[in-house]
Amino acid sequence: MNTKTFALKGTICFSASPQELSIAEDSWLVCENGRCAGVFPTLPEKYQGIPCRDTGSCLIIPGLTDLHLHAPQYSFRSTGMDLELLDWLNTYTFPEESRYADLSYAKKAYRIFADDLKKSATTRASVFATLHVEATELLMDLLEQTGVKTLVGKVNMDRNGSPVLQEASAGESIAETERWLTEISGKYRNTAPILTPRFTPSCSDELMRKLSEIQKRTGLPVQSHLSENPGEIAWVQKLCPTTHFYGEAYDQFGLFGGQNCPTIMAHCVYSTDQEIALIKERGVYIAHCPQSNTNLASGIAPAKRYLQEGLNIGLGSDIAGGTSISILRAIADAIQASKLHWRLTDESRQPLSLEEGFYLATAGGGSFFGKVGSFREGFEFDAVILDDSSLPCPRTFTPRERLERLIYLGDERNIAGKYVEGSRIF
Ligand code: GUN
Ligand code: FE
Repeated sequence: MNTKTFALKGTICFSASPQELSIAEDSWLVCENGRCAGVFPTLPEKYQGIPCRDTGSCLIIPGLTDLHLHAPQYSFRSTGMDLELLDWLNTYTFPEESRYADLSYAKKAYRIFADDLKKSATTRASVFATLHVEATELLMDLLEQTGVKTLVGKVNMDRNGSPVLQEASAGESIAETERWLTEISGKYRNTAPILTPRFTPSCSDELMRKLSEIQKRTGLPVQSHLSENPGEIAWVQKLCPTTHFYGEAYDQFGLFGGQNCPTIMAHCVYSTDQEIALIKERGVYIAHCPQSNTNLASGIAPAKRYLQEGLNIGLGSDIAGGTSISILRAIADAIQASKLHWRLTDESRQPLSLEEGFYLATAGGGSFFGKVGSFREGFEFDAVILDDSSLPCPRTFTPRERLERLIYLGDERNIAGKYVEGSRIF
């Protein structure tokens, strides 16, 4: 019997739509050859005899997707929270990332990161590494072993860095990128490369042009940052005087979505109507990172608007702008931030509901990875078992209330099991 064919029993919960949860109590979730075969009140005849894991009263939800985080920044998360983006990068982030030239430091730091990612509810993640090829490959080796499916980017940055963290030229940055892609080619099942120009201020025009050539040749996806902070946006306007909005600074090089260029842009706190229209037209994914946007005082992204207007959007922890690797926590943060946006900025848009926050963390971000983030038939079987028995209460709660409590109160101790594409992680 294929080990990727089995059933889980419990209270099964996934998004039927952005506004609606599908909840099946005391039901069976069947995985067949690594894909969801459906949710059933009783185990169908044809599956009798397959291995079953009875989770008792646990909730079973789709795996969560972290669309944006920086692995090398996990080491200093929750320190240095007193500056805005550009000063924060120069003061804390670039010096920390420069340490990853030292492989023994990288090994210690990335081991801690990989262990914590494995224990989390995250089953898919899009990750920034640093500009260092060896450390990036080490990170990919460690992530491969976790079983979590990741995209990992060797960072490109050839201008406006610091003496300790910057590539010497566009040519060097590209040569290192090509070396990295050659060295990892065919090496992994769970991790794959994503092109990662850090953000416009870090990348010369020549570097962007050459990255675009690699993108066109390979079809690799792209990740970067967009419209995060007012000072950053003003700087990009100076650096790219012919552009009408920040997104054009990527789009002019063909690095902004479209059919053959799957793209994630983190933040979009201050995207203009024109920028939003292009994001939509190109199918660019927005990684909404509410905790980072609060910690770095960046602002409040209009996540509800993006969802209502049918843009592709998921959640990101943005470690170490964000301090927590938990995407459950990111759901709560997204809902809370949306309430402030409603109260302070735009009363015409209701805050995100619990259902919408849950959708962003599952199907919303998951779809960047294919048929991921749902228990509908044919989806890749990513599942997380949530045990709320350590959160005692004097009365019973509905499954929806239990999910809500886990989102607001839960941590990794409540994660009792995890599967990625039908493989059991724990
Ligand atoms: N923009 C460019 N680099 C970074 C980074 O490391 N973190 C965040 N939040 N924004 C960035
Ligand atoms: Fe970031």
